[in-house]
Formats: sequence, structure tokens, C-alpha cells
Amino acid sequence: MTKIIDGKEFAQKIRNQVKEDSDNLFKNKEVQPCLAVVLVGENPASKVYVGAKTKMAAECNIKTKDFKMEDTTDQATLLKVIEELNNDSGVHGILVQLPLPKQIDERAVIDAIDVKKDVDGFHAINAGRLSIGGEMLKQAFIPCTPLGSLLLLKDTVPNLSGMNAVVIGRSNIVGKPMSQLLIEESCTVTIVHSRTKDIEAICSKADIIVAAVGRPEMIKSNWIKDDAVIIDVGINRIPSKKPDGSEGTKLVGDVDYNDVFEKSSAITPVPGGVGPMTIACLLRNTVTSAYRHAGLDDPRGTVS
Ligand code: GUN
Repeated sequence: MTKIIDGKEFAQKIRNQVKEDSDNLFKNKEVQPCLAVVLVGENPASKVYVGAKTKMAAECNIKTKDFKMEDTTDQATLLKVIEELNNDSGVHGILVQLPLPKQIDERAVIDAIDVKKDVDGFHAINAGRLSIGGEMLKQAFIPCTPLGSLLLLKDTVPNLSGMNAVVIGRSNIVGKPMSQLLIEESCTVTIVHSRTKDIEAICSKADIIVAAVGRPEMIKSNWIKDDAVIIDVGINRIPSKKPDGSEGTKLVGDVDYNDVFEKSSAITPVPGGVGPMTIACLLRNTVTSAYRHAGLDDPRGTVS
């Protein structure tokens, strides 16, 4: 029987822990964790995402400061806002929603964020700490989507040591950090991408597949081996007929869920799999940052 990995339920469990940790920090140190969210421009998906972050933060007793900036904002203006947030001792986490408008150099902005407030884990120093692993990982912030994916995976397969994992996609936000987290768990990791020759043959040897390519339903059942565990990071909107026959859309992953379901031993659905984990992990990182700023140990394990 294939297990459906319920990310919605797991994310709720994490948010409950985050709220408990946030309340304890307030009780003991009179500090309320605070996340600054910076949105530049009018990207509709980013607006939805930022709205959801603000709502869920409030439910976890995390304060948010929202900065909405024009699409035409120049880099110097954005860097000034970040500098102010870096210097504001009441702010523990800074998130600049990506993508940024094209006149702005994303890397320059990310690396301008105080590394101790980089709750997205995208700063070069946090990426470096994750890459080095071991003790270094304990000072890092781990990017939220890979962290959420790993927590779901470890809940399904507690001991990942020695397993063959294939990560499909090589982005800085998901593919690369995910592969490093899996190496840290002693998996044998292969990253495949758009230029890889014979992707299907490589994937068909994997005990674990993490798909993060952004191509709707690309991964079919003939790509995977029997009883593979499938973590689908993709969230793609495609045209779909509504029950009344009119034109509509629906969300699908990078994996052809119905085709792959029987052959896999466990799989994340889309929606309701990895998606809800991203915001839960962002809130977790924010509370962790507030603990560190108060001179306390992290309230939870790095990846447990
Ligand atoms: N855009 C898509 N995913 C993310 C994310 O995890 N963090 C930020 N800041 N922007 C994103």
C-alpha cells in the first residue's frame, strides 16, 4: 500500500511547535519573534505567498513587518531598507521575496542581509555552512523548502543512510541545498538536470526521488523503481476542465501522481505535500533566530 505523505498535517504540527517555542521565549525573555517580509513588485504568486506567510506568522505569535515596494524600485533603495532591518534589534528574520525585478541583482540583495537574520538560508555564508555540514550546520539557516522536504522524508524513512537519492533540478533554492542535506544524512546523491543524459535510467535506480524542476507531470512511472519514495516539490498550474465542462486550472506537481502512485511506496501529493512545509519551516527558522539573538540554544534540532 502506497503511503500518502500528508504535508498539510505535518506542517500544522510544526506550526504548533513554533507557537509553543515563541510563547516560551516571550514568557522567559519577553521577546516576541519578528519577521520582516519585503515584496518588490506585483508578481501575483509572490503576493499570495507573502499574504499566507503573514497570516500563519500571526497564528504562531510571530510579529511581521511588511514592506511593499514598487516594481520600479532601484537596488540602492532596496539595500537601504535591508540595512535598516539589519540594524533593527526588534527584527529577527528578513525575507526578501524572490524573484526580484530585473533591474535588481538578486545575489547582491541576498548577501546584504545580515547572515544571522537570513531565515531563508540563501546568503552565501549560510549556503557555505550547509555545504560544509557537521557542526557548521548548527549555526546555519537551512532553506525552507529543502528543510520541509527532508523533515517529511525523515518522518517516512527514519534512517536514510546508504540510500540512493536522485534530486531532479539544480536550483540554489531547492536542488543544491536538498542534495547537501541528503549527503549529510549519508545518502548517495545524484543531481540530474536539463542537460543530463538518460535521466530516466538514473532515476530508475533511486530509492528516493526529490523532484524540483517546475515541469508539470514530467516524471512517469517508467522512470522510477518499485517502492521508491517520491518527494514532489513542483507546484505547477495547468489548464483543466471544471466539472461543468468550462475552462479552469488545477495545480499539479513535477511527478505524474496518478501514474506513479501504485509503483511508489510513499509519495507527497500536490497540493498538500511539500507546499505547506515551506512556510512552516520559515516560521521555525524565524523563532530559531529569535532564540539565537536572545543568547539561547535552538529550541529544536537542526533537521529533526
Ligand atoms: N520564491 C520562491 N520560493 C521562495 C522562498 O522560499 N523564499 C523567498 N524569499 N522567495 C521565494
